[in-house]
Amino acid sequence: MQDIEFTPEQHKTWAELYRRQEPKVRQHASALYLEGFDKLQLPSEEIPTLLYLNSKIPAASGWTVVRTDVRFTDADEWYKFFDRHEFLVTNYMRSWEELDWTPEPDMFHDIFGHLPFFMLPAYAELQEMFAPAFFASETDEERENIKRLAWYSTEFGMIRENGVMKVFGTGLMSGGDEFVNAAEGKLEYEAFTLDNVLGVEKVMYEQHNHLYVIESLDQCKAELAKYLGPIAARS
Ligand SMILES: [Fe+2]
Repeated sequence: MQDIEFTPEQHKTWAELYRRQEPKVRQHASALYLEGFDKLQLPSEEIPTLLYLNSKIPAASGWTVVRTDVRFTDADEWYKFFDRHEFLVTNYMRSWEELDWTPEPDMFHDIFGHLPFFMLPAYAELQEMFAPAFFASETDEERENIKRLAWYSTEFGMIRENGVMKVFGTGLMSGGDEFVNAAEGKLEYEAFTLDNVLGVEKVMYEQHNHLYVIESLDQCKAELAKYLGPIAARS
């Protein structure tokens, strides 16, 4: 797809979000995210071009960034791209009035929240576990469980690093108050295990008060594999 031009207002929104969020992630984000963040070197003053992003990410992890004009891509469509190791970035940018929190993921979330992680092959491997299971699933319940496991790990998970709880989820990484509340231990936390997560409804259009904590990428992968592995093995 041809890359698009953004308005000065959209670049201004990006710059302000970056200015607010960068010190917070430096303080509270997982070391994994920060490693990717330092490798990706996102521009602070303007929305990065697709050309720029794809000059960095494919060489690092094999994933490619693809723009979409769809505001919220549903899981069936989303996982088709995931299956090809393509990460969709929406053209939608939150308005100035929604700087602190947007109920819908926007391009700041997609780029600032997700893409630093795709500089790390070990993280890309975790994301590569979902699509094969999603397409081999046979019931709505299985598909819901897969989405729920992704939601409470990659989108809204926490991680314990050297005994300290850090922010891991991309949906938190791009947010305002929710990021700080999660980082400062103001919510409820439980271990990320199948027993704890399966059966819990996703909270999608309001802020979370209950989050799940992974111990490491490997622990998260091992927990996910218990559910996703047998399903993916059917295909
Ligand atoms: Fe996301």
